[in-house]
Amino acid sequence: MKFQLAHGNLEKYTTDCLVVGIYEDHTLTGTAQKLDKISQGYLTQLIKKDEAPGKVGQTLLLYHVPHISAERVLLVGCGKNSSLSTQDYRRIIANSIKALSALRITDITLCLTEVPVTEHNTAWKIKQTVEVILDNLYQFNEFKSEKKPKPSLQHIHLRIEKIDPKLFDKAIKQGLAVASGVAFTKNLANLPSNICTPSYLASEAKSLAKKYSSITTHVLEENQMKKLGMGAFLAVAKGSAQNPKLICIEYKGTTKKQDPIALIGKGITFDTGGISLKPADAMIGMKYDMCGAATVLGTLKAAAELKLPLHIVGILATAENMPSGTATKPEDIVTSLSGQTIEIMNTDAEGRLVLCDALTYAEQKYHPKTVIDIATLTGAVVIALGHHASGLLANHQPLADELLQAGIESHDRAWQMPLWEEYQEQLKSPFADMSNVGGRAAGTITAACFLSRFTKKLHWAHLDVAGTAAMMGGNDRYATGRPVPLLTQFLLNRCKQ
Ligand code: BES
Ligand code: MN
Ligand code: ZN
Repeated sequence: MKFQLAHGNLEKYTTDCLVVGIYEDHTLTGTAQKLDKISQGYLTQLIKKDEAPGKVGQTLLLYHVPHISAERVLLVGCGKNSSLSTQDYRRIIANSIKALSALRITDITLCLTEVPVTEHNTAWKIKQTVEVILDNLYQFNEFKSEKKPKPSLQHIHLRIEKIDPKLFDKAIKQGLAVASGVAFTKNLANLPSNICTPSYLASEAKSLAKKYSSITTHVLEENQMKKLGMGAFLAVAKGSAQNPKLICIEYKGTTKKQDPIALIGKGITFDTGGISLKPADAMIGMKYDMCGAATVLGTLKAAAELKLPLHIVGILATAENMPSGTATKPEDIVTSLSGQTIEIMNTDAEGRLVLCDALTYAEQKYHPKTVIDIATLTGAVVIALGHHASGLLANHQPLADELLQAGIESHDRAWQMPLWEEYQEQLKSPFADMSNVGGRAAGTITAACFLSRFTKKLHWAHLDVAGTAAMMGGNDRYATGRPVPLLTQFLLNRCKQ
């Protein structure tokens, strides 16, 4: 898909479709006013007949608008003639694309960046336009014998009156990088677990390293992890025929010596619950339990595309959580890489077990200053926040604030929960240093409390993305690619410092 800045006068402008905003109170955007004038009141007539759209995201496709060269005009409702909210701006872009994607046209011209959006400038609108369009055109057909036709759209022109072309190019580039990271993450996440195994994720990491010279990988095998003493991580993999892998990916976008930022992803390629087996219904969607790991890969891809001047380490803690005669059992006690012992009261609380060793490993091997883990960790976060915000918990408030801010900027938002000392009590075990579960109350917080015991020396934040990384209900199951936009924005903001 090509995104270009459009020039030239509206009357003579050729395109398959011109996309123009119109307000609910029947006032017109700047471009709509010009169009009305050129067409000698065509839009005014529509309004008189009460046939013009207006509500946010409503559309009306017009053919043969008089005296213009464009073949079609898509009118898009932009709500009240005031500033749009972020979500409404995203909706008008998404609905425009949906309305046009059924037509077999290749080239459209959007005139929507002229609509004001609260607290955001033109560069933001351009970037979001790219991200929303590519998100909406995404398809995953790999396992259908009959493929859907590929979207016919190839060129998207943006008509913007006053913009520095350099700024335009930068915004497009950032939007494209985020979109490619998001698509990469979605593709991995949507694969079934019989294909997307820990070994498969390791080979994907290696192919990223092949594609980008700034990336190198290094994979720890089970025997190496055993030697190091990753008893918590290995306890999760014990029941599975699939070998676990600790996949380390290093991105070096700068030659300056810099403490790395570590991104650590939960990569459970399927979570049956293990011996604490999930009921059949609750197991649906558990192929998505590797979304944290896929997010780390997608974010590193975006960082590499943008050649961000940063040093980033990605660590994917990948394994399959299965019941079997060799699986870990409830009340088994293991020793983590940190030396702390854990009584595994529920084998379905496996994410924290792979993550705690990955966190310790990151600290010991890479000495990062900032560590962020991303995990589909708890069902409780879906109960608390639904599907709109990721849960955020952190031991360093400035880091939490950076992530919250990046979430708002990218519209991939997180919401902070407390990590108070009082909650730690719930993890008490009579036999080991801690239990791996803390009871029903505050499940997301106690999961983070568990992880916090392995990150005391670090600036650490945890994103619980169980509600945001994928939709798992019924027939409508799909990966979203979140929180790649949030993390990429976080990294971009780090570059400005
Ligand atoms: N992968 C699940 C969390 C999950 C649940 C993600 C629903 C997406 C949708 C995790 O490993 C898990 O099973 N968590 C348990 C923890 C409990 C045993 C303390 C949960 O949330 O029920
Ligand atoms: Mn589980
Ligand atoms: Zn899980």
